[in-house]
Amino acid sequence: MDHADHVRLLRDGVHGGGTAWADLGSGEGAFTLALADLLGPTGSIHTVDRDGRAVGVQVRALREAFPSVGLTPVVADFTMPLELPPLDGIVMANSLHFVRDKLGVLGLVRGYLRPAGRLVLVEYDTDHGNPWVPFPLSSRSWATLATEAGFRETRRLVSVPSRFLGSIYSAVSLR
Ligand SMILES: C[S@@+](CC[C@H](N)C(=O)[O-])C[C@H]1O[C@@H](n2cnc3c(N)ncnc32)[C@H](O)[C@@H]1O
Repeated sequence: MDHADHVRLLRDGVHGGGTAWADLGSGEGAFTLALADLLGPTGSIHTVDRDGRAVGVQVRALREAFPSVGLTPVVADFTMPLELPPLDGIVMANSLHFVRDKLGVLGLVRGYLRPAGRLVLVEYDTDHGNPWVPFPLSSRSWATLATEAGFRETRRLVSVPSRFLGSIYSAVSLR
């Protein structure tokens, strides 16, 4: 996957969804770069990852490629309550599959969103984990879980083939 794929996965979920976003489990920033590209210079992005090295790589990449997008990096565990401003949107890309019991985190995530806010999820389309992707959830499982967590109107957006675990999908849900 390249930057164009990352943008394609997020585009319809981000479009028209305000300018204050967060990327939880942002890693080295592949999807933060896509988010910055889509939001443009009025965008502001809080990123959260527990891996300080990855956050450093991400900050350098963002400042080089999209210097006018506001970036607030935080090294933290997103399964714990975070201090974030009210958000228009949240991206979780390939990070929710590290959480076994997802409802608690999803409750926190929902709480960070403004009433019209949205969550864009990117995940492998499988329910069968492995040591690197321990607790994945297919788009079908996500539709059920998102409703259970209180999200509305969950909609699958795009799917791209992946050499690893078949394919990756994106989905958007409203708070
Ligand atoms: C597979 S990487 C995905 C990175 C990026 N979102 C992407 O798709 O390229 C997963 C990231 O989630 C982070 N992560 C996993 N669990 C986390 C947690 N509980 N709190 C914060 N970060 C977490 C890891 O440190 C890692 O950087």
